[in-house]
Amino acid sequence: MKLLTLIFLGAVMMPAQSIQYSEARKVWLLTTRQNSYAMGVGHDGALRNLYWGAPLWRIEDIAAPAERRDISSFDPRQMLENEEYPGWGGTRYYEPALKITRADGDRDLVLQYVSHRVHGDELDIALKDIRDPVEVTLHYRVYPDYGIIRRSATIRNGTNAALTLESAQAAAWYLPPGDGYQLTYLSGRWAAEAQINHEPIHEGQKVLESRKGHTSHNFNPWFAIDAGDAGEESGRVWFGALAWSGNWRITVEQTPYRQVRVTGGFNSFDFSYPLQPGESLETPAFFAGYSQAGFGGASRTMHRFEREQILPGGAQSRLRPVLYNSWEATTFNVDEAGQRQLADKAARIGAELFVMDDGWFGARNDDHAGLGDWVVNPHKFPNGLKPLIDHVHSLGMDFGLWVEPEMVNADSDLYRAHPDWVLHFDGRPRSELRNQMVLNLARDDVKEYIFGALDKLATENNIRYFKWDMNRAVSEPGWPEAGPANERKLWVGYVRNLYEIMDRLRARHPRLEIESCSGGGGRIDEGILQRVDEVWTSDNTEAFDRLRIQEAFSMAHAPKIMSAWVTDVPNMNGRSVPLVYRFLAAMQGALGIGANLNHWTDQDFALATRMVSLYKRIRPAVQTGDLYRLFSPRTNDLTANEYVAPDGKLAVVFAFRHSQQYNTAAPAIRLRGLDEKATYRVEASEGKLVEPQTQFSGAYLMSAGLNLDLRGDYAAAAIVLERL
Ligand code: GLA
Repeated sequence: MKLLTLIFLGAVMMPAQSIQYSEARKVWLLTTRQNSYAMGVGHDGALRNLYWGAPLWRIEDIAAPAERRDISSFDPRQMLENEEYPGWGGTRYYEPALKITRADGDRDLVLQYVSHRVHGDELDIALKDIRDPVEVTLHYRVYPDYGIIRRSATIRNGTNAALTLESAQAAAWYLPPGDGYQLTYLSGRWAAEAQINHEPIHEGQKVLESRKGHTSHNFNPWFAIDAGDAGEESGRVWFGALAWSGNWRITVEQTPYRQVRVTGGFNSFDFSYPLQPGESLETPAFFAGYSQAGFGGASRTMHRFEREQILPGGAQSRLRPVLYNSWEATTFNVDEAGQRQLADKAARIGAELFVMDDGWFGARNDDHAGLGDWVVNPHKFPNGLKPLIDHVHSLGMDFGLWVEPEMVNADSDLYRAHPDWVLHFDGRPRSELRNQMVLNLARDDVKEYIFGALDKLATENNIRYFKWDMNRAVSEPGWPEAGPANERKLWVGYVRNLYEIMDRLRARHPRLEIESCSGGGGRIDEGILQRVDEVWTSDNTEAFDRLRIQEAFSMAHAPKIMSAWVTDVPNMNGRSVPLVYRFLAAMQGALGIGANLNHWTDQDFALATRMVSLYKRIRPAVQTGDLYRLFSPRTNDLTANEYVAPDGKLAVVFAFRHSQQYNTAAPAIRLRGLDEKATYRVEASEGKLVEPQTQFSGAYLMSAGLNLDLRGDYAAAAIVLERL
């Protein structure tokens, strides 16, 4: 008998192999330090999910899939079986993972297990239709140390006739059978991204999706499901995130059989992807995890995974620099003298990266002209960008540049030369939003034009950072030259080419970093995050609104990549919160300053310099530490977030009080993630502690908590803790 080797990772007992297989029962057990996932081959050859939850270590516990009977002629057994990757065929009526039409009109697809291959932490399972070689390879990758499993599928047409894919999902996930599940998801719109929704899952489908060609502000491709009893720090939470920056869909479905299933991948809306004989299509990746420590545990798992396994450079990537961006200060009115002046002031407060935003190229004096013409405007920069960039470098900062490569204004040399390059249907209107149209990036000539323009900019200038914007959604998604059978491939081709351009740019310019912006947070997902270093969270920089946007962002994504600027007031909603509040709100992510520094007083500069230097001190905790959301702005008059550095030596608490009433004191803030036995030096860097002491045990801080003197409207504090 083969002895099972076990290793201890933290407190969790884990098998030495992340992927175990039993040939006798044809079952697999995938294990990470936080979860296990099991599946097996049924009597009919279908691959079925058997378990998803807390870690298991003994594959002998997993029985082969049970044989079931139809409940009635209306309720076939397939509806009770958790098929890992169901084709639309036979007696299956839930959301399929794959739906096809063959050239002769036959649409039946029943997938059966053929073979599998384990290599390290990866498992490929080959499935095939019961009749013809329509082949699917399911890819699983286990990240044992991260608590994450990645799934995707490659669909291959092994027949000798063309077929068309009408739905191609990355994965179907199953919760343990039951009722009372709750779905948490993020929705929003421009300048109001990422609002948290938490609602019961009922029978039927709930669809989270984008039909807009980009990830979109409306939903983020992320979900969390709990059994109705999870809180911020307790309870079981199953969660997942899709890696796709185009039309995506996550369908959460409860069937009448108490089955709760989540399917996700390419949006099947307007999807039609022909495969010629021998051709294949790989779906986006769908990452998923499970936490027993509530939503906080789930997001900390995702943050670490994003930082170390998704972002370019992973764990080795540098801490995000303090950025200055010119947009809210100068909008389109950029020129060399004005930017030099801002750069001098940004350097004075400690900025490390100076980004010149929109307005530097072509005939770009407002949003009516110039997009597409990526040449430096000779009136604004008579000697090119070099003198400004040299000046920025002489101040000790890196230089970044705004671009919006996928777009074109009708009033541009590019559009005059290539009107056929935009997405359009022949003879029909081409809708403009913000006076711009979308280039058909699925075309190789467009891809090469964009790559060439950006490569030239990065080659000729010492540019460290592109802020890559996309300021409108796709409309009239036509590609007449491709012909009716192929034109809908653009939904996939557009995104693939976008990724390719970014990958090639980064390969040719290894120091180059990219920010993903799409009118704020319109393109944030695990696909783009494999290519960018930072994202623009929202065009809404109003600090009080930001607390909610940032809280929701942090449910799914790492604070390290969450760009947050300090800007001028009055801001959105006509609100004016104090500068210190604005700084502390922005210091909870990748700090930036977007204010018009020409309007700042000496006092503002002094405060800003102090805050930037505080930020640099606590940045490792914020950017690479564990986040504990202690008080939510959605439910409290107080917002408090705590970040604990990975080595536990440094922690920081940010607290905000919005509208104190009846002269009541703010509630005690009980901290988390500290060492009970350690003593901490506690320093109110901003704000005031009620307690007179400056040293506390971890036990006291976590059980009794800190009391802050937060009075008046929009009071804010930052407390730094150092373990002694
Ligand atoms: C978008 C971005 C802003 C700014 C403008 C420039 O709205 O989100 O930050 O770059 O475009 O036109």
